[in-house]
Amino acid sequence: MAQRIPVVAGNWKMNFDHLEATYFIQKLAWLLRDAHFDFKGTEIVIMPSFTSIRSVQVLIEAEKMRIGVGAQTVSETSDGAFTGDISAQMLARLGCKYVIIGHSERRKYHPEDDANIVDKVRAVLAADMNPILCVGESFEERKQGIELEYAVNQVHDVMRDLSDKEAQRMLIAYEPIWAVGTGMVATPQSAQDAANAIRDYFKKTYGTDVSEKVRILYGGSVNASNAQALMEGPDVDGFLVGGAALDAEEFSRIARLTSRSARRRLAHR
Ligand code: 13P
Repeated sequence: MAQRIPVVAGNWKMNFDHLEATYFIQKLAWLLRDAHFDFKGTEIVIMPSFTSIRSVQVLIEAEKMRIGVGAQTVSETSDGAFTGDISAQMLARLGCKYVIIGHSERRKYHPEDDANIVDKVRAVLAADMNPILCVGESFEERKQGIELEYAVNQVHDVMRDLSDKEAQRMLIAYEPIWAVGTGMVATPQSAQDAANAIRDYFKKTYGTDVSEKVRILYGGSVNASNAQALMEGPDVDGFLVGGAALDAEEFSRIARLTSRSARRRLAHR
């Protein structure tokens, strides 16, 4: 079985200007170092606003911090007359490793839909970064009991034309919409069930080799009180954290709990 390095990614959404962002990163790096954090065993990623990425990148490089940087969305086109858009190439040049695609807030407030999500995924892969594709049901689908099918179909809609090589570079974030920013978290069992259904989709479509490599995160009201229980599901490979990623101490606690769970997982293999 492949060993998957868990990811704890902080999606800052539209919070923090570049000064607040660099202050936060310094504090986070200090907290993690002080706790002798195992940076090799768990990846830490911060996704700031576009305006802060450069400042964060310069700081991380100068101080040799082992914190990754990502973006919250991207244009599906490479360049040209697209006022206000940011291309994958621009993000890659800034050292971004990950880009969130299809977040429920972007599906709701911006025209990020299944058609352009596919193109965004391709743009990110072509620029040598890793997409974090967000999927997950609303209350409606959950009430009907079709949440697993719904999430898997969302994955399938995007993945259907991707090769094995591209597929294994994907990260999937299962983020049930009703859990995002509400304080209502999925139970560890339902996070595991969704992660397992998504992994099973990868296994059937691309085979065990790919499915064992793909990292599947949970997102939606994650905090330091629920992270450890959520990590008990063997298919949950870390988190996409929103609100709790705006507090350096809380975020570092989530990172440490994830790292501890990952070590325990390794010991039981
Ligand atoms: P919250 O952690 O605030 O619920 O947000 C989750 C999220 O949307 C991460 O992308």
